[in-house]
Amino acid sequence: MTIKITSSDFPRLKGYIEKQCGIALRDSQQYLLESRLNKLLAQHQCSSFAEFYQLAMDGRVPGLNEKIVNAMTTNETLWFRDTHPWQSFQDVLLPEWDAQLKGPAVRKRIWSAAASMGQEAYSMSMLIDTYCRMHPASALSRNVEIVGTDISTSALYVAISGNYDAIAMSRGFGEPWTSYKNRYFTAKQKVWELSEDIRKMVSFRHFNLQQSFESLGKFDLICLRNVIIYFSDEFKKDLFDRMANSLNPSGYLLLGASETPIRYTSRFKSMRIGQSTFYQLKDAP
Ligand SMILES: C[S@@+](CC[C@H](N)C(=O)[O-])C[C@H]1O[C@@H](n2cnc3c(N)ncnc32)[C@H](O)[C@@H]1O
Repeated sequence: MTIKITSSDFPRLKGYIEKQCGIALRDSQQYLLESRLNKLLAQHQCSSFAEFYQLAMDGRVPGLNEKIVNAMTTNETLWFRDTHPWQSFQDVLLPEWDAQLKGPAVRKRIWSAAASMGQEAYSMSMLIDTYCRMHPASALSRNVEIVGTDISTSALYVAISGNYDAIAMSRGFGEPWTSYKNRYFTAKQKVWELSEDIRKMVSFRHFNLQQSFESLGKFDLICLRNVIIYFSDEFKKDLFDRMANSLNPSGYLLLGASETPIRYTSRFKSMRIGQSTFYQLKDAP
């Protein structure tokens, strides 16, 4: 039996979720709480959302907050999502960085800031590896570090394992990347295992975008894709401001296909690279 949330419990639970992970539910999204949390209510023998809210607030059940965040986050992702940004990454950013790496020793750092199950970060490490195969003198694969962060521990578990099921593998390996599936994965019984070389270019870390970014350092590319849609305008403003502080002077910010920082900050300028829009700091050299 599905337990319904009452109109007095909804604002309390909505507030709790926004505090935990910044996800701002709309008033029309009561159904989302019901569908995502009913299983947890049953697991913890709660007969109402009021009881469940109390349990979450008490903090007496170890790991309950984490389970709620895992249930409420949407981890939808795929390989080479939206195609065009990755073509620009491959055709413009990588050659640009490669040329810069021929000068004084520098490192390039990429942040996949809502990494989910790792497809975005690993798509980039596969592109870097392919670039280096085509340019054997390139130092890119040794000098690029990719950091993947997410708040969902269940998504990160998959990312770190580098093992993907048939459904995950059926999404995103279209042209021009169809051959990558067999080049970089080994099909085991029920999973496809990503090669060690590609995995070791990426390090994953549990991280809430509400936290200070200082411990992460500065980046040359930040991918903040398909996550701001879940946040309030106030959080988006704060997030873009902190993202701007985390970019190296000529670094790039890449958002989801329908996302823009324009309404929330004046610190970025947009630029067309290939068929995609990237953002750079207004005072970028
Ligand atoms: C829809 S996925 C997007 C994945 C990937 N960037 C892409 O475009 O395919 C959104 C991810 O954002 C994560 N997320 C949501 N709120 C977060 C927060 N406050 N801090 C860190 N990650 C968060 C979710 O766990 C989820 O994995």
